[in-house]
Amino acid sequence: MTHHTPISANGVPPQRRTCRPRNAVALLALSALTGAVWAQSGEKIKVGFMLPASGTYAALGVAIENGFRMYVGEQGGKLGGREIEYFKVDDESDPAKATDNVNRLIKRDKVDVIVGTVHSGVAMAMARAAKESNTILIVPNAGADAVTGPMCGPTIFRSSFSNWQTAYPMGVVAGKQEGKKNAMTITWKYAAGEESVNGFKEGFEKNGGKVNKQLTLPFPNVEFQALLTEIAAAKPDAVYAFFAGAGAVKFVKDYHAAGLSKTIPLYGPGFLTDGTLEAQGDSAQGMLTTLHYADELGSERDKSFRTNYAKAYKLAPDVYAVQGYDAAQMLAVGLKAAGGDVSKKDVFRSAVEKATIASPRGDFTLSKAHNPVQDIYLRKVEGKENRKLGVAVKALADPARGCKL
Ligand code: PHB
Repeated sequence: MTHHTPISANGVPPQRRTCRPRNAVALLALSALTGAVWAQSGEKIKVGFMLPASGTYAALGVAIENGFRMYVGEQGGKLGGREIEYFKVDDESDPAKATDNVNRLIKRDKVDVIVGTVHSGVAMAMARAAKESNTILIVPNAGADAVTGPMCGPTIFRSSFSNWQTAYPMGVVAGKQEGKKNAMTITWKYAAGEESVNGFKEGFEKNGGKVNKQLTLPFPNVEFQALLTEIAAAKPDAVYAFFAGAGAVKFVKDYHAAGLSKTIPLYGPGFLTDGTLEAQGDSAQGMLTTLHYADELGSERDKSFRTNYAKAYKLAPDVYAVQGYDAAQMLAVGLKAAGGDVSKKDVFRSAVEKATIASPRGDFTLSKAHNPVQDIYLRKVEGKENRKLGVAVKALADPARGCKL
């Protein structure tokens, strides 16, 4: 018995298989019927989490999974009328192991849906495998521009952002609003870091600035001293950095300890200070970043999300938890339309494409390439919070260069 022959596998009389609905009402009725059949059969939807459970991004993986499970819990444990069963792989944020890891979920566990991951290099291998096997993939973080660019696909969706999308607005703010003229960038040398600093450069240079030097170190190294010495000697007007997770904690602390935060403002995409403020303490105070989320946005949706999350997991909610929660919301939309039948990929796809997702970040829709079209907030660190100062760019869509869908 496979997951792709639901009707015969569940003992529905054979004439149902040959019925040909002639109109939309009949189609809807059929979809409700198959939903009921699935629910009766007790067969669960298999969701495979491929997330980092170790390494510099481990906390991000935890927040994503928590957010996802929280939404499913709010729906009584069922989406599209079917219970959810979870499978897990620790991807270690290691691109070299990514293809084997994703195939554990696709081929060994035979999951219906893959949810992952954090690291862009790993996510690109996942997108390839999802496309080849026609498996639904929802990316709850990794911003690799290619995933909703040249590698985009009919079953590939993202609940988070593209690396360009969170970086370009910070370049605009640094040049236009803050009036900075020259900047240095610093990041890990891999897709996310490179795309992020290039996005910043594009926004900055369109607004009167110039990026003079781009510093890198291998992922996930945190020996920043030599590079900080180089920044101190060059004295740029500003520094833009992409780091996240434990690496972001260490970088912001080291930058402050080197005395640089007094004279050279440190900017970044919001990952530099999201989910990290408890550990960064004084070192992050006053920092400006741009992101599609901020603490205390004030909507009822966000308030209840934050309260419920803090209560359920004894953790401060952050952008990663939001992205996990919204990945589950997107899955719910698609499964509901498909009556719980994951083999109806076209129905699933068009429902998610048309949906407005009621996210704690604010409502968003998906672009043609399946990436959120969303407001990017300008935030300032105050105490333990990333406070919203305003909207840096409204309803920003990733250009989706190279996507043919
Ligand atoms: C990425 O690799 O795309 C990435 C990782 C961590 C973040 C953001 C992006 O916080």
